[in-house]
Amino acid sequence: MSDSTLLAREIARRKTFAIISHPDAGKTTLTEKLLLYGGAIQMAGAVKAKKARAHAVSDWMEMERERGISIVSSVLQFPYKGRQLNLVDCPGHADFSEDTYRALMATDAAIMLLDSAKGVEMQTKKLFRVCKLRQMPIFTFVNKMDRPGRDPFELIGEVEEVLGIGVYPVTWPIHASGKFRGVYHRELKQVFLFELVAHGAEIAPMEATTLDAPHLLEALGEEAVKQLRDDVELLEAAGDALDRDRLARGEVTPMFFGSALTNFGLPQFLDAFIELMPLPAPRNSDKGLIEPTDERFTAFVFKIQANMDRQHRDRLAFLRVCSGRYERGMKVRHVRTGREVRLTNPVQFMAQERTVVDDGYAGDIIGMFDPGLYLIGDTICTGSPVAYEPLPQFPPEHFARMAILDPMKRKQLKKGLEQLGQEGSIQLFRPPEGREGEAIVGTVGELQFDVVKARLAAEYGVDVRVERLSFSFARWVEGDTLPLAELENQLYGYGALDIRDNPVVLFKGDWQLESCVKAFPKTRFLELGNSI
Ligand code: G4P
Repeated sequence: MSDSTLLAREIARRKTFAIISHPDAGKTTLTEKLLLYGGAIQMAGAVKAKKARAHAVSDWMEMERERGISIVSSVLQFPYKGRQLNLVDCPGHADFSEDTYRALMATDAAIMLLDSAKGVEMQTKKLFRVCKLRQMPIFTFVNKMDRPGRDPFELIGEVEEVLGIGVYPVTWPIHASGKFRGVYHRELKQVFLFELVAHGAEIAPMEATTLDAPHLLEALGEEAVKQLRDDVELLEAAGDALDRDRLARGEVTPMFFGSALTNFGLPQFLDAFIELMPLPAPRNSDKGLIEPTDERFTAFVFKIQANMDRQHRDRLAFLRVCSGRYERGMKVRHVRTGREVRLTNPVQFMAQERTVVDDGYAGDIIGMFDPGLYLIGDTICTGSPVAYEPLPQFPPEHFARMAILDPMKRKQLKKGLEQLGQEGSIQLFRPPEGREGEAIVGTVGELQFDVVKARLAAEYGVDVRVERLSFSFARWVEGDTLPLAELENQLYGYGALDIRDNPVVLFKGDWQLESCVKAFPKTRFLELGNSI
């Protein structure tokens, strides 16, 4: 097989995706069941407990803590029917939106998970918007069909209306005597009836039959079969077929019904998902679009995570491989610094552990041990340097200083804050040259302060008090330089440097920005260039 055929084949095997949903729709349950059906775990739901969300940085950390599954990273990789599935964690809490948005930038498709009783919820809408901007393929799974929910036709209408995307139901729910029994698959023209297993902890036995099989009447009763046939007739009357090009552009979403808890409808969803998921789209760089099958290796950093292993204090940069093939030990260019680095020990994240990989292809997510080189958005590549488009950033809306309780721990505080800033979990504004003082922490959501406080204590042994500051927005400075260190004395705002040493001014309100603009007419004050 030629190198390029092999490359194309390997890329086609990889399915890199995220699940977008509103909290409580069942993302953790679904994730666990994907692992179960992929054969990565034998038993789901080992430990159960109610959640304490406030301090969990990742949904999978919650899962690890509460369900007894060891999840070591923000990426889960598992096999499914000869494919390699890479599921990127996409926290659903409103306050972690930056992390979430970046995760979506690293994926090729999203599963939109809806609670059948609640339909399209607020957080789903927000995340959907990002997928839509990227024209990403979206697969919809309507969950909790085992509970009383909304009428499926009504849900289709809501998705179409509220989200502005076409819906093509691939499976259809079957209820009999008030119980969810399985799904009808429109493409296969088959009925799948499921049996309950205790807590849905194992693969649920199912049986396939056809709409007109006499056995179906026995199994479901006349009324349920009539209802199903009527529903199917109504669906078929629309006379459309799933348009794969529109799916690839995110204009139509295939919809599936099921229950992540009982596993009903799950294998039909998974099979269709891997079959229908389009190949990764080319990605935009400063040198134009790059196809995944481009022979050059290119990848970008979408997440940095420190202290995943408390014992080793390590720091991992997560990279999405966008084109070509990589090999362990290969030399690549770190484009921002121009430095040459070696892919010494790229790791991947199988369900239960990290493994060092020898080689891989576009579509993969790899982790690199990071000595402090990588920042979010950095590109590495072989051949002539290319840089991928910067990842979206969010303007910070909340500002605070971390007041240290034990002054002897100043060094640890500095280190901890720098780390969190490099991870992109907070934005850090350092005092400029000629000015003393602690760095200011900026966040998009208030909850992030709790996370910072908890992580500083747990990982750096520093207890802090969060002192909120009255700044309400930041502007990045372009054009003529400003006397950053002196601005505050003149009440023009607080001058600082961001993590890349770019000058920034924090303002308390529009009035302050306006007087600063008047005082320094040759300077421009910009919101984040690529903000969403
Ligand atoms: P999240 O990660 O999206 O926040 O949701 P998670 O999977 O934790 O599910 C939220 C709740 O919904 C859980 O119940 C979970 O068991 C339940 N759930 C998930 N999928 C289904 C489903 O298909 N059917 C039904 N009936 N329930 C489902 P909980 O009571 O909050 O927690 P637990 O004690 O059951 O874990």
